[in-house]
Amino acid sequence: MPPQVAAASGLDVLSHAIESYTALRFDERPKPERPILRPAYQGSNPISDLWSLQAMRLVNQFLVRAVEDPGDDEARANMLLAASYAGIGFGNAGVHLPHGMSYPVSGQVRDYRAPGYAADHPLVPHGVSVILNAPAVFRFTAAADPGRHLAAAEALGANDRQRQAADAGEILADRITWFMQRLKVPNGLRAVGYTPADIPALVEGTLPQHRVTKLSPLPAGPEDLARLFEQAMVAW
Ligand SMILES: [Fe+2]
Repeated sequence: MPPQVAAASGLDVLSHAIESYTALRFDERPKPERPILRPAYQGSNPISDLWSLQAMRLVNQFLVRAVEDPGDDEARANMLLAASYAGIGFGNAGVHLPHGMSYPVSGQVRDYRAPGYAADHPLVPHGVSVILNAPAVFRFTAAADPGRHLAAAEALGANDRQRQAADAGEILADRITWFMQRLKVPNGLRAVGYTPADIPALVEGTLPQHRVTKLSPLPAGPEDLARLFEQAMVAW
């Protein structure tokens, strides 16, 4: 697996874990009318939390190593484990806005070609399209539960005890951006070919993704989504 593929896949794992940990709580979701209408994704819950937090700790410990040294079998094995842990977490809890917003980013690609990917067509790798939206999203959603966003940042290695809950979104966004820079992913949506003129189409493409967007801990309407895409144009 080329380093760029390991980076995109690993950042997808990272976002699976944070999204499932910060998703709308299972007991804050609307109760379905009948049991048959229960969704597959039930929102964050104490069991998924364990898998998601442990996945974040493994990502913090092993992702950079797994990307920078393809021969580091210990790091790559632990990233496989992190992917499975986060998968169990989000497979039950669900993911939210970074994934919901990623589908139009991947789907509406024009010319961008991803280094390291053996594809003969334009492509924004899934993990890249997810992580490009993540810092803006978590700055926004932190207000719903600052403690959870801080706990996620800490599991990912952020160590800034001077700052307060009011900074939780910024602390988590900074930590994600640190990984993005270190792993050399494109610097924002602009770097994969989007401009502010594309925002209405990106919002249109996100709105039907109810399976995941309704798990956002804060409701996000078209204007919120447009602002988040605007902020995601440049990551750092
Ligand atoms: Fe994903």
